[in-house]
Amino acid sequence: MQEFKSQKHNNRLPTSIVYDIRGVQKNREAEGVAFQLTIPTLQISKGEKIALIGQSGCGKSTLLDMLAFISQPTNNNSFFFQQKNIADLWKDRRYSLLSKIRRESIGYVMQTGGLLPYLTVKENINLSRDILDLPEDDTIADLVEKLDLSYHLNKRPTDLSTGERQRVAIARALAHRPDIVIADEPTASLDPYASKTVMAMFINLVEEMGITVIIASHAWNDIKHLGLRRLSHHSLRSPDELKTETIVTG
Ligand SMILES: Nc1ncnc2c1ncn2[C@@H]1O[C@H](COP(=O)(O)OP(=O)(O)OP(=O)(O)O)[C@@H](O)[C@H]1O
Ligand SMILES: [Mg+2]
Repeated sequence: MQEFKSQKHNNRLPTSIVYDIRGVQKNREAEGVAFQLTIPTLQISKGEKIALIGQSGCGKSTLLDMLAFISQPTNNNSFFFQQKNIADLWKDRRYSLLSKIRRESIGYVMQTGGLLPYLTVKENINLSRDILDLPEDDTIADLVEKLDLSYHLNKRPTDLSTGERQRVAIARALAHRPDIVIADEPTASLDPYASKTVMAMFINLVEEMGITVIIASHAWNDIKHLGLRRLSHHSLRSPDELKTETIVTG
């Protein structure tokens, strides 16, 4: 397993760099089985479209949760987001500031959809704008039209097909026009045809809106034609199979 010495890093990064991560690790352990995600270096620039492709259990959601400041790295190395020193914010337990940065700058399409069942489609999509108290503009109407959701606005998520639900989750993540959208297998439960269609809609939208996107998926074939930069990663397993390490760079 790799180890990193604490690294000092110049925080005067160009504004075009969204994420600048060096020597960050996340350890997880359950029932004697350990997993370690290691990121020697990762830089993501504004407007990039990033794909993280890998099989189940390789650490995609673990990485995305760290990129969204949902999950704290195990070590405290160099982690900058839009020139903000996220490693220091975690160290100083500035949890509400971390949430504020996430709320304002990041949209998250969760692996499970994450729609609130007691809200209508319209209310779900409006949620992020309501929380931020953003004034009404054309964003929602535009998203609803482009994601073909206009007939479903007053329904509850349980009344929708899986593909419709995933389109609602995408609309919700983009509604407040975040700088970054992180999507964890946003089309995982769709058939290959529907998956390709929804993925193309999603990528077209983020390009149009100028949003940086990071997508985890195991289906490279569904997205490779969309011009994404694929992060490289490899996994090592200990001979007794009790420890796995995935190393991601890009
Ligand atoms: N809360 C947890 N506690 C301990 N280990 C965990 C926890 N969550 C995940 N793991 C382990 O961490 C590893 C990476 O999990 P992760 O969910 O990041 O994988 P993934 O690539 O997103 O998989 P999938 O494609 O199935 O969603 C797995 O070995 C998993 O068993
Ligand atoms: Mg996952």
